[in-house]
Amino acid sequence: MSNSPPRDPARFGPSTRLVHAGRDPSAQHGFVNTPIYRGSTVLFPTYDDLKHRRGRFDYGTSGTPTTESLTTAWSELAGAAGTVLTPSGLAALTVALMAVVSAGDHLLVSDSAYRPTRIFCDGVLKRFGVEVEYYDPLVGAGIGALLRDTTKAVLVEAPGSQSFEMQDVPAISEVVHARGAAVIMDNTWATPLLFPPHARGVDIAVEAGTKYLSGGSDLLLGLTSANAQYWPALHRTFEHFAMCPGPEDVFLALRGLRTMALRLREHGAQGLAMARWLQARPEVARVLHPALPEDPGHALWKRDFSGASGLFGVILNPAPERAVAALLDGLELFGMGFSWGGFESLVIPFDCRTYRTATTWAPEGPGLRFHIGLEDISDLQADLDAGFARLRAAM
Ligand SMILES: Cc1ncc(COP(=O)(O)O)c(C=O)c1O
Repeated sequence: MSNSPPRDPARFGPSTRLVHAGRDPSAQHGFVNTPIYRGSTVLFPTYDDLKHRRGRFDYGTSGTPTTESLTTAWSELAGAAGTVLTPSGLAALTVALMAVVSAGDHLLVSDSAYRPTRIFCDGVLKRFGVEVEYYDPLVGAGIGALLRDTTKAVLVEAPGSQSFEMQDVPAISEVVHARGAAVIMDNTWATPLLFPPHARGVDIAVEAGTKYLSGGSDLLLGLTSANAQYWPALHRTFEHFAMCPGPEDVFLALRGLRTMALRLREHGAQGLAMARWLQARPEVARVLHPALPEDPGHALWKRDFSGASGLFGVILNPAPERAVAALLDGLELFGMGFSWGGFESLVIPFDCRTYRTATTWAPEGPGLRFHIGLEDISDLQADLDAGFARLRAAM
């Protein structure tokens, strides 16, 4: 037995690597975890070291042993050249975009992107002279027809926020790279465990660590990783913003990282079981879950992903708002709230019609987004069963 990290971790499976990545007990007096380093000032031993900022760390915003533990582990997991940490998932997206686009550039954004990403693009990026255009997430290699000489980046998200459409990320990447532009992906749903972003052609990948990395609904964090080509620009932009998270949140994320594979497997299995149960309900018109064989994105999911997480949607048959409110208001186990990825089950209503611009979203009835947690599935189904009875009674 040794208290040093295993040699050549690439030969191990992802769960093994997740347990060992980014920590070295031999450098921590044998303690298993890297402790929380709190600090702004880093002292240099000599004038010459200070002059050349020589040393592993030079200032708190650039990194500490605690943040380095997480960035090293995440880069290994994602297959990236480097990773930066931000105080939220949305901040991770903004750093990714700011690393690539400048005034006068054209940016293509999937119509299925996380809504606050759109708000940032339509607000800050437009204000700084970036031309933002939304595209149909199902475009695939057809993205070529939308690329201009000024296109610097294409933002993808698979499956899409709320709508859960799949995107052909490798096909999009091939066409976009041939034109010298970058592919930026919000990979929060899958995490690099279920979709290795850089191996599939993504240049800059974003993860809201707030979700499955935390697993506890108790912290906000973002991770942005880049391949070798885009790492210098990403790192530079991160240093310019100095938008770094607090050390306790990074420590909690490291703790979450060690159990993420196990939790994701359970969320995925529970989510799929619930999706199948919902498919059989007479109140449900469609279930939006790419791991279901009936889903239009299933073939892409099967080809590119190695599993599913616990987040998916349903479209109900037509029902008035009061009936949906009756379903939701009486739930005992499902919480109603934004975010997801924690141990608890959640549900929120959604309506993509209110913000989509490049595609038409025409649902049969109201939409509900579910996050399936770690509770006993039969208890969750009983909670929803009672909810559906309230929905029917209020029709
Ligand atoms: C797909 C997706 N990306 C990014 C984010 C942003 O993460 P955060 O809440 O940490 O800003 C969210 C949050 O809900 C999300 O659902």
